Amino acid sequence: MTLIDGKALSATIKEEIAAEVEKIKAAGKKVPHLAAVLVGDDPASAVYVRNKVRSCEKVGFKSTLLRRPADVSEDEVLELVQQLNEDDDIDGFIVQLPLPKHINEEKITLAIDPRKDVDGFHPVNVGRMALGLPCYLPATPYGILTMLERYGIETSGKHAVVIGRSNIVGTPMSILLSRKSKTGNCTVTLTHSRTKDLPAFARSADIIIAAIGIPEFVKGDMVKEGAVVIDVGINRVEAPDRPKGYKLVGDVAFDEVAPKCSFITPVPGGVGPMTVTSLLLNTLKANRKEVYR
Ligand code: GUN
Repeated sequence: MTLIDGKALSATIKEEIAAEVEKIKAAGKKVPHLAAVLVGDDPASAVYVRNKVRSCEKVGFKSTLLRRPADVSEDEVLELVQQLNEDDDIDGFIVQLPLPKHINEEKITLAIDPRKDVDGFHPVNVGRMALGLPCYLPATPYGILTMLERYGIETSGKHAVVIGRSNIVGTPMSILLSRKSKTGNCTVTLTHSRTKDLPAFARSADIIIAAIGIPEFVKGDMVKEGAVVIDVGINRVEAPDRPKGYKLVGDVAFDEVAPKCSFITPVPGGVGPMTVTSLLLNTLKANRKEVYR
């Protein structure tokens, strides 16, 4: 069994990005610049955004954090998005989700210029992904594909079972794994809460992507010998013996499943660290105008 070390891989890729930034500087070109909009004071969102800004600094990108109070109007956020769309110094930006209830997330996402949508959430980027055209891939699927590629995991002809159909993980993963590409060519089954006998599908999988948001949902008897298991879950469960009173577990019962796997990602330290790295890679692509001319 090989543990897929997302933390180490993420650090390696950040070093590679930093080296690219040095080349950009040496050539006298503009360094990549990411902006992040954070509305309100949701503690988890604040942590995520701080992590994104810090990661920018680490690789030598410019970053701009734009904070607005929770009672900011939808129109004001739309205006801010418009300013960022038009600001030539900013290569890409994100609006951290969730937004307060009075702001329509779909409306905000649609207002972002697809050329600067480094989250890959705009329907233009989602559509381009589905068609196999150049696009910004959403961070989590992009991170998973990078792990598969860098660990040399063969996907062609394999049966991939995706558990969970969210817009940001399950659905894009099912599309990407089935595409004619280096980390594609799988036969994909997309399973979800209404799937009948989900364990039977899981047992026939060569590759499992667990993204259903239920702690330790994937048990040992749902995984075949030699499977590759990618755990996207981050669930807080009570743990009175831990200093904080809780611990983080994935969507996979790691101790039962790991001994059967050829490859498995841990939680924490698996998929999670790869997501910010994917955002940096998208920002680098935006800076180089690799996706849109
Ligand atoms: N909230 C949770 N994950 C994400 C993400 O990847 N991007 C944005 N914008 N908001 C999020």
